[in-house]
Amino acid sequence: MTSLVPVSGLDTDPAERARFDAWARVLEDVACDEQGEDHDAWSAEELRGLEGSASKRRLQVLALDGDEPVGAAGVIAPLLDNEGTAQLFVAVLPAHRHRGVGDALVRWAVGEAHTLGRTTLHAETQWGADTDDDPFAGWVERHGFEPAQTVLRSDLPVHEGEVPEPVVADGYRLETHVDAMPEADLADRAFLARRMSTDVPLGDLELAEEEWDEERVRGEDERTRAMGRRVVSTFVRDLGSGRLVGYTSIQCPQATPHLAFQHDTLVTREHRGHGLGLALKLANLRALAQALPEVRTVRTWNAEENAHMLAVNRAMGFRPSGRLRTWQRHLDRG
Ligand SMILES: CC(C)(COP(=O)(O)OP(=O)(O)OC[C@H]1O[C@@H](n2cnc3c(N)ncnc32)[C@H](O)[C@@H]1OP(=O)(O)O)[C@@H](O)C(=O)NCCC(=O)NCCS
Repeated sequence: MTSLVPVSGLDTDPAERARFDAWARVLEDVACDEQGEDHDAWSAEELRGLEGSASKRRLQVLALDGDEPVGAAGVIAPLLDNEGTAQLFVAVLPAHRHRGVGDALVRWAVGEAHTLGRTTLHAETQWGADTDDDPFAGWVERHGFEPAQTVLRSDLPVHEGEVPEPVVADGYRLETHVDAMPEADLADRAFLARRMSTDVPLGDLELAEEEWDEERVRGEDERTRAMGRRVVSTFVRDLGSGRLVGYTSIQCPQATPHLAFQHDTLVTREHRGHGLGLALKLANLRALAQALPEVRTVRTWNAEENAHMLAVNRAMGFRPSGRLRTWQRHLDRG
């Protein structure tokens, strides 16, 4: 008999903390099954940190068979924007699949999203780089989800050669920061984050512009620091207006000092076509090698249709290492 038990990373009671750790371990074991040892699941401590965010509400359950953890699920509901959407995730340990645990978890997740008034639901599947065939497509389709976007995951081995020095177009300047960035730039950073949410290809995903201001940037930066993540970012400043018009950022978790993750890269529409994207990325990789010499691999995700970013990444030596698909379901249609 499967039971579903709520878990929260904010709970301080030792028994509840152990349950949360078991929930995080299910997610990690499933990621390891899909991706191998160098998987990119968040650690339990990082997941605790994410739950502190004021911009998203997180609900989570652990599926138990007796006392044994067999599955995990969650609902992430944005609170500042996209209030009609929610992201769901469901994971069942390989040895316990095909026994209805996944169905029970997705029914819980859809029910919670519905209660929160969310009508557009998103979910992700992940698998290896060698095939286009998503092994979990049949299952998500059974639950009324349709494919919305396919994303290529790529890895760059670092320290295999010197990263070339970036060439910066006239009228622009690159500025790199490790961990904190200057307070004076937070408003520009918020503007870029807002743009990032809609200037990147979204496939068929129905997502609206995100609400970002200085306070949200500060809050997210504080949480990242509290999680022990290191951050290397490079910005490009338009010397004419004095404003930041693009950025790229890499984060490295404490638990995997050898594996870092590429986060946003954006050059605003008005400043594209000057090679600023490549310049940003080269400068940031050079800074990463200096600041965090233990990093061996940088991992990135790009939408299949994002031909320009994929070309930049290929030129830098990134190679495909996996695939991810985002699925969408409407509760208020058909
Ligand atoms: C997808 C997943 C959650 C399914 O878990 P599960 O416990 O095996 O699912 P269930 O047993 O509840 O499945 C119920 C039905 O779906 C079918 N099913 C299960 N996995 C399937 C798959 N990969 N493809 C097609 N059908 C599948 C089962 O046969 C069963 O059908 P039946 O009742 O007619 O026999 C699990 O494989 C998993 O954790 N995958 C990795 C994470 C993931 O991709 N999650 C989904 C997106 S969030």
